[in-house]
Formats: sequence, structure tokens, C-alpha cells
Amino acid sequence: MKDITKKYTNGEITINWQPAKCIHSAVCVRELPQVYNPKERPWLKIENATTEALKAQVQKCPSGALSYFMNDEANKERETLETKIEVLENGPLLIYGTLKITDKDGKETIKDKTTAFCRCGQSANKPYCDGTHIGAKFIG
Ligand code: FES
Repeated sequence: MKDITKKYTNGEITINWQPAKCIHSAVCVRELPQVYNPKERPWLKIENATTEALKAQVQKCPSGALSYFMNDEANKERETLETKIEVLENGPLLIYGTLKITDKDGKETIKDKTTAFCRCGQSANKPYCDGTHIGAKFIG
């Protein structure tokens, strides 16, 4: 999948959407169905929720596919994530924070915000989760 970023703004907040990072946990669709509807175009209707509701939801995005920034230059607020590790039930291992990852061939990659590592062994993009655990019905 292309490494693209789409931006949606209500004039106060801008939400960045990076589809290549999405692990299809559907947290956004469950939390704010009036905003996130994959069956509609555009799939993200930022005008259907308050800025505070949007911020709260984006902070729960487990993959980091959704992120935001406040448009006001005087307000450089950005979501702040503590470094933490979380095991998603029947899904990936999430590591929050900036990571320098060296792959098996010695190639280094910098990952920021949230990185999802495959726990099911079925990902075609190891060591990262690509959402395959859902179709594989991974339990763990
Ligand atoms: S845990 Fe998501 S593809 Fe393996």
C-alpha cells in the first residue's frame, strides 16, 4: 500500500490519515461512527464531531494511522504518547514511542508514535502487523 497521508480539517484541528499504517482494529468506527464510515466517501467526515471528541478518539487509534495537530500556530499541541507496550487481544503487540528498528538484513528504520508488531505469525510484512490476524482468526 502506498505511504500516503490524507488530511481532514475543521479549521481548528487537522486529522492525518495514513492508510498504510492501519491495522483495521475499527476503534475509530466504533467510537465515532458519525465521523468514520468506510462505506461512504469521504470516509472521514470531520464536521460530524467536536474537536474534543475527535482528539479523544484519535488518541485511541492503536496503529497510529490516525493522528492530529491543532491548526492554531500559537497552540502547537500535539498528542503526547508515553512510551509503553501493549498486547492487543487477538492482535498485534503495540509499542508506543520512537523506535530504531534493525531488520534481519541490517536495514535500519525509524518508527514514531505507534508501531504494531505481528504476534500471529501470518503477516506478509513481518515483523509488523498488516491486519492478517483478523482473517487468520488469531487467538492470543
Ligand atoms: S498480529 Fe496482525 S498480522 Fe499478525
